[in-house]
Amino acid sequence: MNTPKIRVGIIGAGFVGSALVQLLSDESRHVALVDAAMAPLEVVGVAVRDPKKVRPGIDTRLITSDALALAKSEGVDVIVELAGGVESARSYVEAALSRGVSVVTANKALMAECGTALAQLANQNGADLFYEAAVGGGVPILRSLRTSLAGERIERVMGIVNGTTNYILSKMTDEGCDYHSALAEAKALGFAEADPTADVEAFDAAQKVQILSSLAFGTELRGELISREGITGVRAVDIDYATRAGYVIKLLGVAERVGEHGISRRAHPTLLPAEHPLASVHGALNAVFVEGAKSGPLMWLGQGAGGEPTATAVLGDLLYVARNKVNGRHDVPFSVDDQLLSVDAGDVASAFYISLDVRDEPGVLASVAGVFGHNDVSIQSMEQSGIADEARLSFLTHCAVTRNVHATMDELSKLESVDCIGACFPVIDGRVS
Ligand SMILES: NC(=O)c1ccc[n+]([C@@H]2O[C@H](COP(=O)([O-])OP(=O)(O)OC[C@H]3O[C@@H](n4cnc5c(N)ncnc54)[C@H](OP(=O)(O)O)[C@@H]3O)[C@@H](O)[C@H]2O)c1
Repeated sequence: MNTPKIRVGIIGAGFVGSALVQLLSDESRHVALVDAAMAPLEVVGVAVRDPKKVRPGIDTRLITSDALALAKSEGVDVIVELAGGVESARSYVEAALSRGVSVVTANKALMAECGTALAQLANQNGADLFYEAAVGGGVPILRSLRTSLAGERIERVMGIVNGTTNYILSKMTDEGCDYHSALAEAKALGFAEADPTADVEAFDAAQKVQILSSLAFGTELRGELISREGITGVRAVDIDYATRAGYVIKLLGVAERVGEHGISRRAHPTLLPAEHPLASVHGALNAVFVEGAKSGPLMWLGQGAGGEPTATAVLGDLLYVARNKVNGRHDVPFSVDDQLLSVDAGDVASAFYISLDVRDEPGVLASVAGVFGHNDVSIQSMEQSGIADEARLSFLTHCAVTRNVHATMDELSKLESVDCIGACFPVIDGRVS
């Protein structure tokens, strides 16, 4: 083939970057890659923080510690940003896009923080910006939303988009262990970082659901804070209750239409009916469930992390971008719908599971029920369990406005007979209404 080579600069050679270099240098895939890209791809530089580190499979002559110079280089046609973080990654990506050099990134934090601005910059300069691996790692959900479902009216997107928390919750469900021992095991097996805050407090899931929402509905990516609750408060007793009631507790990222112009985006532990397709997603797997007006329900499932699965998604983007470059075209990353309004999580209605640790004494149930009643939260079922220090009341409510449920929790937490609010999690698609 006489087509000029597409010169690729890679920033970051960690788990994903090094796996990408390996995929690109696999001789057995060479012809397939050239066909898919409509041109040979050549890695012309790999930027890292520490150029002295030994990096098997990467030609030392390609290594540089000057990522910005690589992003600005005239000798690069596509930049692949796999360094992570926001500030420095943003400077590399902007340097490339502002010169019309296309960018592929796996960086969800960067996209959630400034995706709108980067998409505008790409479009103004005739460059591509692709970020498939930023949500769901190796699960090709973003391209599906961007192309296959581009004409569909999507009603709701829900995802198990954080493998660490799904591993921990699966462990608690399958083996009955508590949160702390499940987290310790996740760390020992490499499914959780030494500091797991971003995962277990749902910051990661919140960023990913914003990216899903931008492609499904046209919401902006400007670092907006959305409603978020992590899994640190999920107790073995909640898992046990959910199981007996026919539910599974999952950390879900949810983006859905509310009325004609409203979009609610949030990430929180959720009770899902055991028969829901997302309920059977175990371990560190990721899955995204999309409900379209005409397509009906659709689901994507796979490896949400790991060098090779993630690099596969990055490579798919790179091949697409190369083909666009050969054909002299570029795609619009996503279109913003100016008419959309962000709906406050408090205004969303849902059924809830609520668990209260209470004093083991007469009259408690009546006082608790009264608080539910005057806050307009109707109880669908109630279970009393445990004795003495372990006395507990568990409720499933009918559909109620979240703000009213939170007001109920505030008031209940002030009752002398309530020791603590154990859990207050929404129920999605449940049998309660
Ligand atoms: N790992 C996954 O499973 C996964 C899944 C989905 C998305 N992602 C995303 O993919 C990206 C890369 O993740 P990773 O797991 O491969 O990270 P990683 O293993 O920590 O690797 C980061 C790489 O970037 C280099 N680097 C860091 N800061 C840099 C800077 N300012 N300038 C130049 N190079 C810099 C590091 O250099 P040194 O090697 O010298 O330290 C390292 O090679 C992140 O945005 C992450 O969120 C990862």
